[in-house]
This record gives sequence, C-alpha cells and structure tokens, in this order.
Amino acid sequence: MRIDKTCATAVALIAAVTLTSHSASANDPQSIVDALGKVFGSHKARASGAKGQCVAGMFTPSAEAKQLTKSASFQSAVPVLGRFSMGGGNPKIADATKAAVRGFSFKLDPGGKGTTEFVMASAPMNFAKSPAQMLGFLEARFPGPDGKPDPEKIKAFAAANPETGRQGQWLAGKPVPASYVGVNYWAIHAYTATNAAGRAQKIKFTLVPTGGEAGLTDDEAKTRPADFLVAELAERIKNKTPAGFNVMAIIGEASDPTNDPTVMWAEEDKRKTIMLGTIAITRIEKNEACDGGIFDPTNLADGIAGPKDDPMFLPRQPAYAISFSRRVN
Ligand code: HEM
Repeated sequence: MRIDKTCATAVALIAAVTLTSHSASANDPQSIVDALGKVFGSHKARASGAKGQCVAGMFTPSAEAKQLTKSASFQSAVPVLGRFSMGGGNPKIADATKAAVRGFSFKLDPGGKGTTEFVMASAPMNFAKSPAQMLGFLEARFPGPDGKPDPEKIKAFAAANPETGRQGQWLAGKPVPASYVGVNYWAIHAYTATNAAGRAQKIKFTLVPTGGEAGLTDDEAKTRPADFLVAELAERIKNKTPAGFNVMAIIGEASDPTNDPTVMWAEEDKRKTIMLGTIAITRIEKNEACDGGIFDPTNLADGIAGPKDDPMFLPRQPAYAISFSRRVN
C-alpha cells in the first residue's frame, strides 16, 4: 500500500510518465486497464478484483523462515492488512461463481523496516503468460453491438492460445469455495528467497487454510446468497473458528522455469515445502483501509525478490496504479 488518496494525482502522473517513456504499445498496462473496463463496464471499483473485503490480522513467522529469507517481514510477528476478492471486474459478481478465482492480497508490515506485499489467486497458474496475451484474452471478450461477447471470437482465441484455458480448467475441477479462508491461494510467480548467509533459493508461495479446505457442491453453491462470503468470514472470526493460512514456500530446482506464470513446475504439488509462518485473520476491516492505495506485488523487502524474466510480473505495479488513479479521481 504505497499510495494514499492524497497522492492519487501523483500516481496518475507517474503512470503517465511510465507509459510515455515506453511509448504506448498494444500491451502496455494502460491498454489492459482500458480493456478490463470494456469487458466489465466502467465503474469506480477496482478494474479487477472489483468485489472484495478488507481484513486485518497478524502474521507469525516460523522458526524455519530464517533458513530461507533474511526479509524483515519474516523475522517477527507483524500486522497484516489484507483484502479478499472475487476475480474479474464485476463489482456485483455472485460469491458462488465457480469460474472466477478468489483473490487474497496482503501486506506484511514490520513497521518501517521493509514491507512485503502479495496479490494472490486461488489457482496455481495465471490465465495469460504475457501482457499481450492478457490483452488478447480480454479483447476476445469485448461486447459486440448486442452488448454481448461473440462466443466464436472467444473460441478462436482459446484455440490459438491453449495455455489461457489452464486456469479455467483447474477451477472447473475444484469445488466452489465455501469460505474466503477455505481455499488455497498462490502467488503464482517464481521468487528468489535469500537468507542472511547469502544462500539463494528459488521458491513459489502458497497459502494453505489453517481450518482446512471448505468447498460446496455445484448444487449447494446455487443455494448461497450472492454475498455470503463476508458473512461466513465474520462468523468464523466471532466463533474463533480457524480463519487464516499457513504461508508455505514451495522449493524450486535450478531447472524450474520462472518466465511463464501459466505453467506449474513439474510435480509442483508434490514438492518439498517449508512453512514460513501463519496468518490469522482477526478482524473485518473497513474497506477504506484497503481502498486508499494498491497492494503492490513488486514491493518486496530485501530477502525476497520477484522473477526477472516473467513478463507478467513488473507490469502489475503500473496497471494497479492506473486502476487506483481511476477509482479515486
Ligand atoms: C499472476 C498474475 C496476477 C494475479 C494473481 C492477479 C491478481 C489480482 C488480484 C487478487 C487483484 C485484486 C487486488 C486487491 O484486492 O486490491 C488484482 C487487481 C488488479 N489486477 Fe491483477 N493479477 C495478476 C496480473 C495482472 C496483470 C499482469 C495485470 C495488468 C497488466 C493486472 C491488472 C490488474 C488491475 C488493473 C487490478 C486492479 C488494481 C487496483 O485497482 O488496485 N493483473 N489482480
């Protein structure tokens, strides 16, 4: 959350400078934010993850975390500001929608010593491997003169870009989440963790629910009210039912790719993992606490670094900043 309302204009300017210095191209972050607006309609909510709820809690690191990272965010218990969301740019999407990912964005804040932010989804792969492919995916869904997307265009894009279907297929094979804290989340990109001795390790991050996975059958999902997820979370917190996650590092190997977020590593779900700590969600927070800035996945305290060769990673910051400037201006 590196931005607040008072500097919204500055953000818009920074975004404009970022864009002009690269000369606007078909796959620049602004084109993607514009395209999200065309697919989902214009509104003052986030261009993606439009429906969501701000929450607060604590992160307590494990003793093993130090083996992997020297990051100040993983050395002692730190407050967490988070936001759960429904995937896509429809602020009225029903919570039981099976085809949408759930999102969890959060910031580990050790108080001025270097914060770490993640913007995760409830699938281990993304639906696009590059901004150009993400733009194409959205363009194929632009509404036509009748206000509806053309199914033939969607089919043709999917046939020409088969990897863009992997996330949807993965979600189709899973139950509808019965809780925002009843589903695993992944940061998807490959990161490098470096410890105090300078040892670097390729990892991916995943969150595993402390209360176990909780799913609905398709029939059960039909009976859930459109906005049941926040009420369910509030009830868990009130009843002291586990509402949080173990933060896990999936251990990578030298040959694992870091440049394509549409692929999982070979046998990724059977890899060795190291628990880095536990997030406990303790409070439903006012949405204003999350809406005054962005969760910036490129904001990482020293000791965790994002991928250098993943074309989807760095464009996230300017895209989120542009969306932010539009929702507050
Ligand atoms: C692994 C890849 C990605 C994942 C898992 C992901 C996930 C998410 C999630 C969970 C949110 C909601 C954020 C919140 O709660 O504040 C979000 C917002 C957003 N995403 Fe992504 N995203 C990815 C890549 C991208 C890329 C590459 C772009 C565009 C270049 C993009 C554009 C946006 C925009 C414009 C927003 C709204 C941000 C705001 O207004 O604060 N995303 N994304």
